[in-house]
Amino acid sequence: MAIYLNDVSRTFGEYLLIPGLTTKQCVPSNVSLRTPLVKFAKGEKSAIELNIPLVSAIMQSVSGPELAIELARNGGLSFIFGSQPIVSQAEMVRKVKKFKAGFVVSDSNLTPENTLADILSLIQKTEHSTIGITDDGTPNGKLLGMVTSRDYRVGVDSHDAKVKDLMTPFSKLTVGKLGMSLSEANQIIWDHKLNTLPIIDKDQNLCYFVFRKDYDSHKNNPHELSDNSDKKLLVGAGINTRDYKERVPALVEAGVDVLCIDSSDGYSEWQYETLHWIKENYNNQVLVGAGNVVDEEGFLYLVEAGADFVKVGIGGGSICITREQKGIGRGQATALMDVAKARDAYFEKTGFYVPICSDGGLVHDYHMVLALAMGADFLMMGRYFARFDESPTKKLRIGNNYVKEYWGEGSNRAQNWQRYDMGGSESLKFEEGVDSYVPYAGKMKDNLKLTLGKVKATMCSCGTLNIPELQNNVKITLVSSTSIVEGGAHDVILKEQS
Ligand code: IMP
Repeated sequence: MAIYLNDVSRTFGEYLLIPGLTTKQCVPSNVSLRTPLVKFAKGEKSAIELNIPLVSAIMQSVSGPELAIELARNGGLSFIFGSQPIVSQAEMVRKVKKFKAGFVVSDSNLTPENTLADILSLIQKTEHSTIGITDDGTPNGKLLGMVTSRDYRVGVDSHDAKVKDLMTPFSKLTVGKLGMSLSEANQIIWDHKLNTLPIIDKDQNLCYFVFRKDYDSHKNNPHELSDNSDKKLLVGAGINTRDYKERVPALVEAGVDVLCIDSSDGYSEWQYETLHWIKENYNNQVLVGAGNVVDEEGFLYLVEAGADFVKVGIGGGSICITREQKGIGRGQATALMDVAKARDAYFEKTGFYVPICSDGGLVHDYHMVLALAMGADFLMMGRYFARFDESPTKKLRIGNNYVKEYWGEGSNRAQNWQRYDMGGSESLKFEEGVDSYVPYAGKMKDNLKLTLGKVKATMCSCGTLNIPELQNNVKITLVSSTSIVEGGAHDVILKEQS
């Protein structure tokens, strides 16, 4: 006979938090959101601690280098998507690792032989008005000059005028040397009253621009997640159980900080083998998470295989149709509470704490607090991040609204069949995800400020100042469907609808 689980499979919207005593210390500015990312022994600290408990989903439509840089600058971490060739994924990792706050690789470049017409069309495309003039028109070619809006007059100068006759030539530029610190660069900008300082190497090749306007924005990122020794931003990457013997070495070589095996159903011998291979071949020096699972057995299996963290969640993602297609999964809240119990028991028994990540299905900001309170150490989100400027997808206007594209890894569009691999040589025959739009929401930083403000305020209402306190002390209640209705505005005529 089948084994029946008697508990109903529930999700976040069915629970509420009961306020605890809010002491005078419980103010949002005192709340810490620091949380462990990878396994650690009792009494020790996790090798990586996130400054905010958020990571971005291993998805083409979410985690490219631009989003990874911005999320790390705000204290979280991205896992660069693995459903792409090894070389391009490694290049994306390298791009994040190379990022130096305030040092920007020039995205607008021309050669001296280009014309004013080329300048104007480039500005329209990139919306940046500082153009590096290099011998070959590339971002790292030999620097021969610079063009800014002060170098030409639209309507006066001919559109055929050559860049070489308009640009400020190299001999008149003030430049900085590769290797200088941001504060040294800012000092030169200040002393010479510059707007932009090109940074060159010993062969006069353009490496970066440092902009005066970025000086303040750098000071705005106190939670940046970077390596203590070299200050490089931290970044993760998704891998699969097929080509890991080639992919992992390339990602490690590119400087990746942590890996995650990406699969819709992680309770498999394929994941066991992959974890074993990585741990053995890298002498336990490469950190790797695994998943996804929804119960104790799945969790323990991956932990025994060497997982440094375990992802929880099957079928709850906003773009996910796995439950409809295969009838597998579990309500996210129930899955999370079950796995959290297993993690705590494992810690008690062995002295090793293996963090768990709640992946998918977080819709409202308060769901994040609920997920943390139910035992998640950190949260993975796709839809949430896909809405921002920094996600790699197109922004479109539909009717009167701006939207961004967001598609599942199991959709035909992503073609990430390894994620849904059931072994054997057959490729997948049906989709487990959809192609969709999400409402455009602007810059990540503004949204995070609001979201984390709400998270901290809720934690204060619960009388807790950090995530472990939330997990150990908070009271959670199941709500009836009638009280869910009571939770929204009701029995009034909303002004915007009248
Ligand atoms: P969201 O935050 O609710 O949008 O969920 C994102 C999560 O959905 C990801 O981190 C994946 O675990 C999962 N996911 C991504 N693509 C697919 C898909 O095509 N089908 C099912 N689940 C997916």
